[in-house]
Amino acid sequence: MPATLHRRLLAWYDAHKREMPWRGHPDPYAVWVSEIMLQQTQVETVRGYFARFLAAFPSAAALAAAPQQDVLKAWEGLGYYSRARNLQKAAQAVAARGGILPRDAAGWATLPGVGPYTAAAIASICFSEMTPVVDGNVIRVFARVLGWPDDFRKPPARARLAAWLQPHIEASKRPGDFNQAMMDLGATLCAPRAPACPACPLHGDCLARREGRQAEFPVKPAKKAAPTRQAVAVLVRDAEGRVLFTQRTAEGLLSGLWELPSAAATGRPTRRDALRALRAETGLAAAKAVPLGTVTHIFSHFRLLLHVYAVPAYTGAPDPARQPPARFACPADLPLSTATRRALALSATL
Ligand code: ADE
Repeated sequence: MPATLHRRLLAWYDAHKREMPWRGHPDPYAVWVSEIMLQQTQVETVRGYFARFLAAFPSAAALAAAPQQDVLKAWEGLGYYSRARNLQKAAQAVAARGGILPRDAAGWATLPGVGPYTAAAIASICFSEMTPVVDGNVIRVFARVLGWPDDFRKPPARARLAAWLQPHIEASKRPGDFNQAMMDLGATLCAPRAPACPACPLHGDCLARREGRQAEFPVKPAKKAAPTRQAVAVLVRDAEGRVLFTQRTAEGLLSGLWELPSAAATGRPTRRDALRALRAETGLAAAKAVPLGTVTHIFSHFRLLLHVYAVPAYTGAPDPARQPPARFACPADLPLSTATRRALALSATL
């Protein structure tokens, strides 16, 4: 591989880099927030969230001191909420050490929610550390360039690619830009399907392109199909139109968020299942429920079919001391998951 690869990559980056509000941002806290948001999420989606999040929590100290509900609310709709919880936990760990942010990738990687690729991104962008990022986009670019058939879900394959990239990032003398150039290339031209090879600065370096085998890399070991889970949820409104919510328990998927009273179901649930779930989750009894529809939501490891029933104009109230909490509230006032928002949208006419 010619030693000048970094020049082609950086020349392309200088001409084509995507403008992002956190690029060129002097504050490592801001870059850290952006990198956590960018895990599993497209740049376009992150833009608005990033600006609102920094306005609400302008420093690691502000984030550490905020109520968790406010942090989840600011994250609402971005998904993978453990990112928000870990980000706050990490900010609290930083505050406990006197507010000093780490300066190298090894230090960043000790914080909750910061894996090797995020640590490398932050340390290279903010502190010019010569550590290559090996994320999904970078893997796709270089699995193709090098024609390596490795299973990159395995750490040794990632380590091998990092070692291969090391002399190139060092030769670049611009490690933050080098890493972001690789990520941008993977996110734009070197797409999973139909890569734009003629526009690619590495097209002359690329074994897969030379052999017309772009679609074969990175090699993907067969994935098991995600299972489907079903659940029943009950939308109960009081006379003022407020909705009855319960809070998810402190640990696990979507913890801390609020949702409609619900229960797992084995098949398509009946009205009676809906009323039983309502009673089990909130202690409230209702006589009637009408089917509203079903929403489908894809989580990382399963597909959820949520069957929603409605109980309109309800006149009881849950016990305020009940655990986990249940209460009537306006949907805008609580952090809700996207699946819950979709369930609410089914009742727009109710
Ligand atoms: N994906 C994750 N971090 C990124 C960054 N800094 N630039 C481009 N894509 C990214």
